[in-house]
Amino acid sequence: MALDILESVDLRPLNTFRVPAKARALVALHNREEALVLAEREKDSGPYFFLGGGSNILFTRDVEETLVKVEIAGKRIVEEGPQGALVEAGAGEDWHGFVAWTLSQGLPGLENLALIPGTAGGAPVQNIGAYGLELKDRFHSVEVLDMKEGKVRVLEAPDLHFGYRHSLFKEEKGKDLLILKLRVFLPLPWAPVLEYPDLQKTLAHVEQPTAKDIFSAVVAIRKRKLPDPAVVGNGGSFFKNPVVEEGLYQELLKEYRGLPGYPAGEGKVKLSAAWIIDRLGWKGKTLGRAGVAPSHALVLINTGGATGQEILELALRIREDVQRSFGIRLEFEPTIY
Ligand code: EPU
Repeated sequence: MALDILESVDLRPLNTFRVPAKARALVALHNREEALVLAEREKDSGPYFFLGGGSNILFTRDVEETLVKVEIAGKRIVEEGPQGALVEAGAGEDWHGFVAWTLSQGLPGLENLALIPGTAGGAPVQNIGAYGLELKDRFHSVEVLDMKEGKVRVLEAPDLHFGYRHSLFKEEKGKDLLILKLRVFLPLPWAPVLEYPDLQKTLAHVEQPTAKDIFSAVVAIRKRKLPDPAVVGNGGSFFKNPVVEEGLYQELLKEYRGLPGYPAGEGKVKLSAAWIIDRLGWKGKTLGRAGVAPSHALVLINTGGATGQEILELALRIREDVQRSFGIRLEFEPTIY
């Protein structure tokens, strides 16, 4: 089977920050067979760089590795029973399209994760989360291809080391694993997840919100607060919300009244990075062609023609400022290449 390998590919259309970069070689995979051919052919000549929707990556230079663009399509209900439904998506399926499709099939459970950019295969990589739900809460398994061994394996939740925006795929051991398929389990009876304050506010007038109500509310909130990557280059939240000791939170509260903190277990508190960055006056600011979104302090944007380096420069300035004022080191959420 011949694989289509393109050389010197412009990556601007393939990353949601819309920053310039080139890939030395790019191969698009449409099914498992092509993936196996690639693993066989390049067994000794990796490494690879896997790309899904390009919505969580900041390119600051050209990509030297063979870039593997996963375009494996297909969605289906594998099994339905009184306990719930097992549903599958090819790794290249658009995540939001998959969420909408499950609802159209009468299968609620993913509605809180509506409108998150990226692909089904990208969802477990960073354990996407929003409005009180994380992918791990609905995760069943992934089919992966180990590019070094050329073997297909199925991995379940305990194998994946899920954490806050974290999984095995972000660790050294996960670097050679190419995700082919994602399976989620949508349990019955369905129970709405409504703890998130913004969601409660938006649905305050609805007596018993259905999954479709929640879906619409999440879409509305995201459209209001987060810039649309199709219009303004961005990669969603640029910083993770920092998790600190309760004691430090109490100290900070003395100086910064109103600093939001949410219990994160084991005597720890998750702080709002957006609040901190906003408080330091960064919201809406620009540095060259990079900027902080006027609608949300966690989102860095390409105001037009910015390079990845320029966006990184702004992120580093913000990080320094937060370190100086709050004594907290912010972590970046997207992968910086
Ligand atoms: N806030 C500000 N200024 C702002 C924005 C927010 O002060 O400009 C404060 C407000 O007090 C608000 C609080 O920050 O109540 C939290 O804001 P928001 O509800 O927007 O959530 P977030 O913690 O900033 C996280 C995720 C988002 C996810 C939302 C909703 C991270 C890093 N980000 O943001 O995920 O959509 O919660 O659940 O965990 C992403 O990962 O790319 C992403 C967008």
